[in-house]
Amino acid sequence: MTTATRKILVTNALPYANGPIHIGHMLGYIQADIWVRFQKMRGHECHYMCADDAHGTPIMLKAQQLGIEPEQMIAEMNRAHQADFADFHVAFDHYYSTHSPENKELAELIYTRLRDAGHIKTKTISQLFDPQKEMFLPDRFVKGDCPKCGAADQYGDNCDVCGATYAPTELKNPVSAVSGATPELRDSEHYFFDLPAFEAMLKAWTRSGSLQEEMANKLNEWFESGLQRWDISRDAPYFGFEIPDAPGKYFYVWLDAPIGYMSSFKHYCTTTGNADFESYWEKDSTAELYHFIGKDIIYFHSLFWPAMLNGADFRQPTNVWAHGFITVNGTKMSKSKGTFIMARTYLDHLDPDYLRYYFAAKLTSRIDDLDLNLTDFTQRVNSDLVGKVVNIASRCAGFIQKKFDGKLAANINETALLDEFQAAAATIAESYEKREFSRAMRDIMALADKANFYIAEEEPWQLIKDPAKAERVHEICSIGINLFRLLMIYLTPVVPELAQRVQAFLNEEFNWDSHRNILKDHQIQPFKALLQRIDMEHVEKMIDASKAANTAAAPAPASNDELKNDPLSEEINFDDFAKVDLRVALIANAEHVEGADKLLKLTLDLGGETRQVFAGIKSAYDPATLIGQHTVMVANLAPRKMRFGLSEGMVLAAGPGGEELYILNPHEGAKPGMRVK
Ligand code: 2FM
Ligand code: ZN
Repeated sequence: MTTATRKILVTNALPYANGPIHIGHMLGYIQADIWVRFQKMRGHECHYMCADDAHGTPIMLKAQQLGIEPEQMIAEMNRAHQADFADFHVAFDHYYSTHSPENKELAELIYTRLRDAGHIKTKTISQLFDPQKEMFLPDRFVKGDCPKCGAADQYGDNCDVCGATYAPTELKNPVSAVSGATPELRDSEHYFFDLPAFEAMLKAWTRSGSLQEEMANKLNEWFESGLQRWDISRDAPYFGFEIPDAPGKYFYVWLDAPIGYMSSFKHYCTTTGNADFESYWEKDSTAELYHFIGKDIIYFHSLFWPAMLNGADFRQPTNVWAHGFITVNGTKMSKSKGTFIMARTYLDHLDPDYLRYYFAAKLTSRIDDLDLNLTDFTQRVNSDLVGKVVNIASRCAGFIQKKFDGKLAANINETALLDEFQAAAATIAESYEKREFSRAMRDIMALADKANFYIAEEEPWQLIKDPAKAERVHEICSIGINLFRLLMIYLTPVVPELAQRVQAFLNEEFNWDSHRNILKDHQIQPFKALLQRIDMEHVEKMIDASKAANTAAAPAPASNDELKNDPLSEEINFDDFAKVDLRVALIANAEHVEGADKLLKLTLDLGGETRQVFAGIKSAYDPATLIGQHTVMVANLAPRKMRFGLSEGMVLAAGPGGEELYILNPHEGAKPGMRVK
């Protein structure tokens, strides 16, 4: 009943080469790795590719900060990323870099095919230019006052305070976050990919019925608001590939990044001979191509990428599968709380199979966010993997070893439970195939409960006291070991290292079809502890280590602007100050705002009067923790109409932003409504 061998190519989003992998990244890699391991166990031809995304301005600037060449920086990062993935058992068949000869060649090929087919247009645009660094500034490298609400120190693309989005040229008092210089407007000719020309093709792709529902909805929204031409060029200086017919112009990092999927595969095909590149990428390819990505990069993968491939005469992806983000203990990963956990810090303290299992137990095919609650994580892993699954083996193996020379019974007459466990393979396989891993884990753990119940009922430890029952004990324990074995076959894609130890114990190598047979008259190895329980102390040590890493030698920031201190503001006179009515306020309520990335909605009690204020502190606070606290607000700020409602004042907070933002707390005794002077 094994289905015909499929040809499958799987990719994960390529991580940027300017920072370490953290556990938030790991979700997508673990998800794809489980799926790939499942396909390989089923006997399909499945190739799993990844690479570092090595180009772009942040990488160029980061290398400058470090005083090294970008090539050196990306090579070091590539080694670190590969080590993290390997130690989490994410087993790519090839891990490459977008800064490779194959990627240059393929980017040039795709570009020239698009150009020759008339899909590349040029247009002169005005952009902010840093006269000191002599470079055009990407949006995130310009800061200034928000054109809508006037808030100071906002990025060039959107305002943290009022949520407005705008062009960097609209910012008031702009400064370059790279040098601090005042940017000036300069013209430059840019190259654009004619995305609107692919609307019909993209619509057909969207309506094929196989996309995730949330993704199809997003695409429909984008179609409704109209597709735009996509700016694919950047001016020198830029770390990337120069556009063949345009000296001084470079491909924007997002043009050659997805081409990295192809070039990693190309290098793999050439060096190993394991697959034929053309047959996977040619227009009429019957091979399957899947991209696993995070929900933040759907636009690039569901619009630009299929359109680019189509325009350049290559096949389109079979599907693009997005996953959500992770939160830790219910909130965004936080450096100060120690929940911004690097992959390496996790590995220093805990077994990767624990996290792989926990993610699997919560992953579905939808784009929902996933909470890593560390208490639940500990309990679930201990209860499911150790308490339910491994426990079956530890209850039976001792008898097999001591009483029956390590050999399983030759005759097993009682087959009802074994039949049921074997029959479950089809449903579990279907769940894996559909990326409904949580359903698969639920089914496996329900079977584990049955196995434990069976052993508890049979009580081999009692029966063994009667020599006449020895044969029965042999049968019961052999059934127990076989039930355990079946569960471990099903769990192999999720916990590969544990599965390795189990295979060594059982003297056997698993593939999916192994579930079809039962081990009889089979020699097994002496039982050794297969998996330790998680000790909460190790989790706490990991949190402490994450806190320490983030306070002592904080990893280099993602963008240069974080290095700058705020300059002191211009002097004001007393009358100016006296105009500001600062009041003590009680935070009566705090809640998330649907659709706002940065804002919390606060209800502030001023001692009789209630105000609604939208504050840009979401990344720093879980709203529940704010309720009941006192703070200080500007009470006479003119109300501002925001996208989400009216904001009637402003809460005072200190800090550079993001999660490092601290609302001001008046000393005990200050009552709501009191004036702050
Ligand atoms: O968002 C990111 O982290 C990008 N480096 C992902 C690139 S995926 C692919 F297109 F290369
Ligand atoms: Zn604003």
